Amino acid sequence: MPLHLLNLLNISKKEIFSLIDLANNFKSENMSEYRQENLFPDKTVASIFCEPSTRTKLSFQIAAHNLGVRFLDFDLDNSSIQKGETLEDTIEAMAIMGVDMCVLRHPESSIHELAKKFTRIQFINAGEGSVGHPSQALLDLMTIKESKDKFENLKIAIVGDLDHSRVVSSFMEAIQIVGYKSITFCGHPDLCKNYIDNSIGMFEPDLEIALQEADVVMALRIQNERLAEKLSISSSDYIERFQLNIDSLKPANKDVILLHPGPVNFGIELSKEVVELDNCKIKNQIFNGVGMRMAILTKLFSQT
Ligand code: CP
Repeated sequence: MPLHLLNLLNISKKEIFSLIDLANNFKSENMSEYRQENLFPDKTVASIFCEPSTRTKLSFQIAAHNLGVRFLDFDLDNSSIQKGETLEDTIEAMAIMGVDMCVLRHPESSIHELAKKFTRIQFINAGEGSVGHPSQALLDLMTIKESKDKFENLKIAIVGDLDHSRVVSSFMEAIQIVGYKSITFCGHPDLCKNYIDNSIGMFEPDLEIALQEADVVMALRIQNERLAEKLSISSSDYIERFQLNIDSLKPANKDVILLHPGPVNFGIELSKEVVELDNCKIKNQIFNGVGMRMAILTKLFSQT
């Protein structure tokens, strides 16, 4: 396991499975909550979120709390960054004050340079523009493994705004490590330009064809905040062609599982009623996020 979690390029299948096992081992006997283990009382983590977050930030915070780690929720809007201090100088100050690890979400790929510069601080990539979100991919694999025997047998369909999704970028890294049978990318061509010619999977703009016998369907929201120009499709056409709902999911396998990293724009990429289906694992993803982040913190702190 590397010293930082920046992406999943240097992580092995064995390490991914070990993280999933560790995350599951933190679950209580009835699997409904996580055990509190005072494993790292001398460690301090600071979160720096330069983009909004609910699941990632809170789950790292809860994970740290469960492990006895001191967690500093850095308030960017009331920090000296507002007076012109750079992110680099902010992290330097944190290092001097005794911060051991930064959990960083940033619209750009600055984390890689920061990790090279600050040898005394460990870094976790909690979302890097449209480029990566490795802890999300790991919790997605954990959630799939709860329902499916073998990754190598899986037909996977990913539907939505792929081009702006850091979740799908990291998922591609992860799934190539653990194995898969096929991947179909589906969405409006304006939102899937990077996936139309792709060696990992195939692009299929027709949702009905894309979902044929799928074992895993991952829905992605349209990231309006990252769109350079207005979409050439109306909301109603988008819903008609790409919304996942009880009817549109029919071509998938009976035991298909439905994932979405959140936040969900209900009524657009997903209908509200699918959340109540047994096949829908969105709540499991949120719950597994805490365990996976406990596992990530444990493994990274064990490297030092
Ligand atoms: N999945 C995810 O990254 O959600 P948040 O933006 O709420 O952290």
